[in-house]
Amino acid sequence: MSQKARQTSPHPSPVGQASTSTRLGLGVALLGTKFMGRAHSNAWGKCAQFFELKRPPRMIVAAGRNAAETDAFAQRWGWSRASTDWREVLQDGDVDLVDVSTPNHLHAEMSIASLEAGKHVACEKPLSSTLADAKRMVLAARAAKKKGIQTFVWFNYRRCGAVALAHRLVKEGKLGRIFHVRASYLQDWGGPDTPLLWRFQSDQAGSGAHGDLNAHLIDMARFITGDEIVDVVGAIEETFIKERAIVAANTEALGASKKLKGNKASAKRSGKSTVDDAVLFLARFKHGAIASFEATRLATGNQNRNMIEINGEYGSVKFDFERMNELQWWDHTLEAKLRGWSRIMCTDASHPYGGHYWPAAHVVGYEHGFVSQAADIAAVLGGGASIVPLPDFEDALKTQCVLEAAIRSAREHRAVPIRELDKF
Ligand SMILES: NC(=O)c1ccc[n+]([C@@H]2O[C@H](COP(=O)([O-])OP(=O)(O)OC[C@H]3O[C@@H](n4cnc5c(N)ncnc54)[C@H](O)[C@@H]3O)[C@@H](O)[C@H]2O)c1
Repeated sequence: MSQKARQTSPHPSPVGQASTSTRLGLGVALLGTKFMGRAHSNAWGKCAQFFELKRPPRMIVAAGRNAAETDAFAQRWGWSRASTDWREVLQDGDVDLVDVSTPNHLHAEMSIASLEAGKHVACEKPLSSTLADAKRMVLAARAAKKKGIQTFVWFNYRRCGAVALAHRLVKEGKLGRIFHVRASYLQDWGGPDTPLLWRFQSDQAGSGAHGDLNAHLIDMARFITGDEIVDVVGAIEETFIKERAIVAANTEALGASKKLKGNKASAKRSGKSTVDDAVLFLARFKHGAIASFEATRLATGNQNRNMIEINGEYGSVKFDFERMNELQWWDHTLEAKLRGWSRIMCTDASHPYGGHYWPAAHVVGYEHGFVSQAADIAAVLGGGASIVPLPDFEDALKTQCVLEAAIRSAREHRAVPIRELDKF
């Protein structure tokens, strides 16, 4: 069957109207079929097995660019059909929600078109590659919301049981007043041997480690504390590796990069990296906490160390993704002789998401955060509630403003208040 035939829907819904929740199941279309495409496919496929859902996902169509690869992907991950035209997918009446899992510069175009076609949207982070595009997405989301259409952003770390527990502990007042947020996301895959992927081109990625990793940290810090960053008071941005090899596998993706087309270096099979490799910044929260953030792809020896520590008046919490099932907890209300860090294995049925997977201490992995998020999205669109709050476009714009403030602070050597950036 041809790609075209496989993607044609016999019953398209009128464009611009919200798909109703009366039909059994939540029809999902996936745009982008690589790293996040796989993580999300697994999540949509598994969530109704682990969670009781009134509106279980139906995996309608996966859209990619290469016909043979997309077809094989769809078959392997359980999508009913494949397409090489994401715009046609939006006309499919069986599709209720579009999952945008493509590079950052495509988020705005794909999300806005999906919302205008009456589809709910679950978009990958960061919300977009630029603040201007993120604001356009929020305006589209506001218009769509009036028609009952909802938006979601895949800040998946909120759904690690340990991070969700930290959020609950703060909400219950167990930490009291928050003094410090100390967050760092350290990776080491971005050395000189790593080729010029789309992630190193600012017109596709927006930024480097910053939008990729600090976006997660900012979202986690906001989510756990329930507070908002009001000022970035200083920042540093560095690109250590200025030029990277162009390899055949990436030529197609890089062809989209306007800057690269005119780049003489491409003739000698290398090109300029136009993003940061590392960004560090300091910030202040509305209710007085102070914070440090560090994101880097060159922290040799740290592969995926997404870490956050929060110090409060009555206690502290620490999370390290490389030990993602655990939350470190310090209870400062205990008498001094009993104080010490305790390791909470966040897999008990009493922990957020714990009861949905395995018996206590039968640990979960990276993919379960996505499964839990897919379940929460399906629950909300089925008229229920999520287990912990889901970020929508409006919420993700707050994170995007902090990202932008840090970049301005680094480049202009000054403090940047968020109120400078959040106006429309
Ligand atoms: N939540 C997380 O922890 C997490 C982790 C990794 C990536 N991400 C985000 O997910 C998004 C995708 O990242 P990835 O790592 O999956 O990238 P990737 O390079 O592995 O995959 C990108 C996909 O987009 C497709 N694509 C690219 N240009 C396209 C176009 N013009 N039309 C249609 N499809 C196109 C590619 O074919 C590919 O299937 C990014 O926004 C990234 O920031 C999030």
